[in-house]
This record gives sequence, structure tokens and C-alpha cells, in this order.
Amino acid sequence: MSRALILGGTGLIGRAVARRLLSAGWTVDVTGRNPSRMPPEIAAMGARFVAADRSDEGQLRAALGSGADLLVDCVCYTAADARLLLPLAQHASSTALISSRAVYADADGNHSNSDVPPHFEGPVRESQPTVAPGDMDYRSREGYGANKAAAEQVALDSGLPITVVRPSRVHGVGASRPREWVFVKRALDRRGVVLLTRRGTGVVHPTAAANIAALIGTVAERPGTRILNCADPDAPSALEISRVIARLLGHTWDEVLLDETAPDTLGRTPWDSPHPVVLDTSAAEALGYRPVGDYATTVAAAVDWLANAARTGGDTGVLPRSDDPYFSRFFDYAAEDAFVTTRT
Ligand SMILES: NC(=O)c1ccc[n+]([C@@H]2O[C@H](COP(=O)([O-])OP(=O)(O)OC[C@H]3O[C@@H](n4cnc5c(N)ncnc54)[C@H](OP(=O)(O)O)[C@@H]3O)[C@@H](O)[C@H]2O)c1
Repeated sequence: MSRALILGGTGLIGRAVARRLLSAGWTVDVTGRNPSRMPPEIAAMGARFVAADRSDEGQLRAALGSGADLLVDCVCYTAADARLLLPLAQHASSTALISSRAVYADADGNHSNSDVPPHFEGPVRESQPTVAPGDMDYRSREGYGANKAAAEQVALDSGLPITVVRPSRVHGVGASRPREWVFVKRALDRRGVVLLTRRGTGVVHPTAAANIAALIGTVAERPGTRILNCADPDAPSALEISRVIARLLGHTWDEVLLDETAPDTLGRTPWDSPHPVVLDTSAAEALGYRPVGDYATTVAAAVDWLANAARTGGDTGVLPRSDDPYFSRFFDYAAEDAFVTTRT
């Protein structure tokens, strides 16, 4: 029986990978710091939780034991993290390091966390230049992509069979920042309108955690030292995403498509990029990756998960808090109503 070890396996990506491997008959161990984060559904499928801090070499080695057929690292943020991964990867037939599209820089050096949004000429391939590797705080806006680039470099320079996976905006059950909440909450609040800036044309490519899991299944079968983008087969606009989620929840609303004359505080969504950010996934497809579904298909489980959490009530840690600064700017219903009223 094949064995996989997933570092940071109780989170969004890790649990999707675990679920897929367990369904295919693998033995799966997942690490994390907090056993209470172990998703019950993967525990029920036979996954084992191993407490191991990502920065503790001894705990990591103990978690790996004598080796694994597949090692997946969902907690590799810095070059130092990647250096700790290498001795483990030496004892794994295939390793996947989860990086991010945040490493990509456009011709002016702008990236997904810069003040000026990036403007890519078309779908971004793995050969697109990246930000320079750096070691500033990886939790800062400037540091996230730079540290990921540094981690990638350490992994790739090792020559070990490590596949660097670059997802885009990841969605799925277990997300700590479930961006779909922007439209799920609005539908559950029975709002009669949805306002969308830039007429809802913004595109930031989504990546289903289930599609990352499919790619990792391919990587397990075909070890190699390489970089692969990972994203859904379609790249819906903010308008299309709003329609998918409203449809899944059986809700209808009037679409108010805003132009540049509207206040820029209105109609914002997490998908408002002025220029499309789309990943080219042909390298993954050439390796054998087949996505499990498009955005509308794969997002359904997370929409259910959010709607159920809201209907159940109480603070289960699933839903963003009402004072969450990331989300609160999307729900200024009073300002929306005032705007819509003055227009009619
Ligand atoms: N989510 C996205 O939209 C997105 C997009 C692009 C790339 N990525 C990349 O994908 C990777 C996984 O993201 P995710 O969304 O699955 O993360 P997540 O849901 O936050 O899960 C993180 C996992 O890592 C564990 N963990 C965190 N800190 C740890 C530490 N110091 N030691 C041991 N375990 C630790 C967590 O469990 P405990 O807290 O219990 O330890 C959990 O199992 C990250 O590298 C991220 O940069 C994510």
C-alpha cells in the first residue's frame, strides 16, 4: 500500500489531498500542531494525525519515519522551511511543495501583493519572471512572494524529485479565508441586489483544492524536479462567480454593474483585478493532470459548507467574524441601498 505524509495536512489543501489519496487506497498521515483541527471526515477515512511543528527537524523526521511514496508540504513559506524539507524529500519517491502564483511578477515588477496590481500579457506560464527571492517577514505583503520564491529556489536547486506547485486563489471546504462568503452571505441575507465594480469583469483565476489534489495524484505517479501551475479549467469573472453562487443557493438578485463613475467603495469583491490574472495550466495537463471539475462544480461543496455553518448558527470557527477587516468592506448594505435609491 502506498504511503503519503502531508505536512500541514489538516488545512484547506491538505485535507483535499488526503481525501483523494485515501479514496484511492493510500495510507495517509497528516501533520499539524493542533489535533483539534483534524477534519473528522479524513479521520473517518483512516488518516492519522501526527503532531509536528514545521520548524522542528526531529518531529518532522519522526513523522516521516522510514520514508514515503509521496511527501506534500503545505507549510513551506521560506528558504529555511525548504532547507528542512530536503532531508525528508531524500526519503520520498515524489515530493510536492505548495508554493503560490504570488511569486509571479509582470514586466514592471508588480505582483499580486503590490500596491499596483500586476498586468500580465496573457495566461501566465511557469517561465514568467518571478519576484526576487527574499528573506523579509514572509507574513508581510512584500515578503510572501519573495520568500516563496526563495523556498522554490532551494527546492529546485537540490535536484531532488520535488514538484513546485503554484496555485492561484484556492477554494474549498476548510478555507480559513473563504472568499465565496462575500456572495454566500449576501444570498443568505436575501439581498435583492448585488453591486459589482468594473461591471463585474474582474478575473483572478480560482483553484479548487480538489483540483490541486488531482494534480498531486499525477505528481505522485510522475516524480520530477519542476514547477507546475495549478488552476481550475475555467477562469470566471466576478459577475460569473456571483451568478454561480446565487444559483447554488437558489437566490436571485438584481445585478448593478458599476462603472468608473460609481464610488470605489461600492461593489467590491475579492475578484476585482483591473487586468485578468489567469494561469496557463498546459504544463500540468501535459504531465497527465485532469481537473475534477470547473469552478461551478468544485465550489459547490464549499458553498454548502458555508451555508450550513450560517444556518446552524454559533461561532464554529468556519465563518468570518463580522468585524473581520478583510470581509467587512464587502458588506456595507446601507451605502449600497443609498446608492441604488438615488439612481432610481
Ligand atoms: N489558500 C490559498 O488561497 C492559497 C493560495 C496559494 C497558495 N497557497 C499556499 O498553500 C499552502 C497551504 O495553504 P492552505 O490554505 O491549505 O493553509 P491552511 O488551510 O491555513 O492550513 C495550514 C496547515 O498547516 C498547519 N500549520 C500551520 N503552521 C504550522 C506550523 N508552524 N507547524 C506545523 N503545521 C502548521 C495547520 O495546522 P495547525 O495550525 O494546527 O498547525 C494546517 O494543517 C500554503 O503554503 C499557502 O502559501 C494557499
